[in-house]
Amino acid sequence: MLKLTGRTKVSELQAGPPGLMRALLSTGIFREGDDPEVMLGQLCWTFGFNPAILIMMLEAANVPDEVPPCDSAPYEAMSLLELVEHIEQVHHRYLREAMPELTALTAAVAAAHADDERLAELSKEMAGIAQELDAHLLHEEEALFPMIRDIETRGEVTPTRCGSAVGGPIACMENEHEATIKTLGKMRQLTDDYTAPDRAPAPWREMLEKLARFDQDLREHIYKENKVLFPRSVDAQSGVRSAARA
Ligand SMILES: [Fe+2]
Ligand SMILES: [Fe+2]
Repeated sequence: MLKLTGRTKVSELQAGPPGLMRALLSTGIFREGDDPEVMLGQLCWTFGFNPAILIMMLEAANVPDEVPPCDSAPYEAMSLLELVEHIEQVHHRYLREAMPELTALTAAVAAAHADDERLAELSKEMAGIAQELDAHLLHEEEALFPMIRDIETRGEVTPTRCGSAVGGPIACMENEHEATIKTLGKMRQLTDDYTAPDRAPAPWREMLEKLARFDQDLREHIYKENKVLFPRSVDAQSGVRSAARA
């Protein structure tokens, strides 16, 4: 991780985690095209910006981007229709099968080891995430995905309960994805990254194996939506709009 001081140059931030430059640009004291050889201390001095606050803001962004859970190339090559179909048929279908089973399994393992607080907590997290995801999948299937299919097939959108611009429901779905990823992080913590303790009997081990698959599938699913489907849908709609204006 990059060590940040007043003597750190902007060019060093450019070579670091991408969040660093986003954080610096958001302050307005450095703009694209400015001299990157300037030091942070100099920038603060010139603009009367508190260097301690700048370093604090940058530290929050000084984390490497997470390794992508899958290669996005095959999904970039699909049409939007194919990609929506793939997400529904592979990931939504998997979740609908796996979630009731995992909710029951985590509850049964927690009940069988009532002295283990982490298992009780895990079962609560699993029940919570399943409930949230049920609503999330419906929201995508009933509002957002029909809008995306409309853009691709008819070039215009029949307004749904979320209006007619894909950006609205997409922002809402991205927020929910962030909450889901946080819950997965808690579940990893509670299970030491889905590692079975020596004393764990078969159902406990089976639960951990299935949870690890759930975690992986959900991360891939969210990655495909956030990084491929959503940006391409926004672009497709703005392309349709500018074509309509021309
Ligand atoms: Fe989805
Ligand atoms: Fe989603």
